[in-house]
Amino acid sequence: MALRLGDVAPDFTQDSSEGKIQFYEWAGKNWVVLFSHPADFTPVCTTELGETARLKPEFEKRGAKVIALSVDTVENHKGWIPDINETQGTRVNFPILADHDHKVSLLYDLIHPNSLANATVRSVFIIDPEKKVRATITYPASTGRNFNEILRVIDSLQLTDNHKVATPVNWRDGDDVVIVPALKDEEEIKRRFPNGYKAVRPYLRLTPQPNKEAREVAHTR
Ligand code: BEZ
Repeated sequence: MALRLGDVAPDFTQDSSEGKIQFYEWAGKNWVVLFSHPADFTPVCTTELGETARLKPEFEKRGAKVIALSVDTVENHKGWIPDINETQGTRVNFPILADHDHKVSLLYDLIHPNSLANATVRSVFIIDPEKKVRATITYPASTGRNFNEILRVIDSLQLTDNHKVATPVNWRDGDDVVIVPALKDEEEIKRRFPNGYKAVRPYLRLTPQPNKEAREVAHTR
């Protein structure tokens, strides 16, 4: 059965471009972005893996490690990486799992036979330090993902965990956020949001992003 939000991400041991990986040990106490791509030596995948390498410092800032996966072999990955480096002007700096026996693909439901019979689709799993699946995204093979969106989702999840806020439509870092509906206690609200909040409706309470420079809200309660 497909993994759902809140499920525990399964552990596994598998070969990779950086040697054998025991997933939980490799992940440690970090957030993890595990993403599958259809095949080595394909154009969209080449751009995606190059972009992931370029963004690695951004993942690190968020305490997140990245790991890619396809059903190709270690030898194929090792043959392809120099192409990614050369064509994308980067250095692949994260492991690519070689799921030749489909072990991980089966655990994470990465092969969708009505889409691609024998290759993984473009799925992303954002996994928290407790190994819980916190977000899943699946794209077709022909659509390259927006890795800035993946960073944005991690930011949103971490804001919710750390500050009890959710992020509204098209939210970007620094925009106002919304106080989670479950938070009702006025004392806690005052303590958490010293700059106040604007109640557009009782259930829609906007406040400046808590981990940014303090600034006043126009119509505070
Ligand atoms: C690609 O990565 O370019 C690709 C892979 C499979 C199908 C279509 C595109």
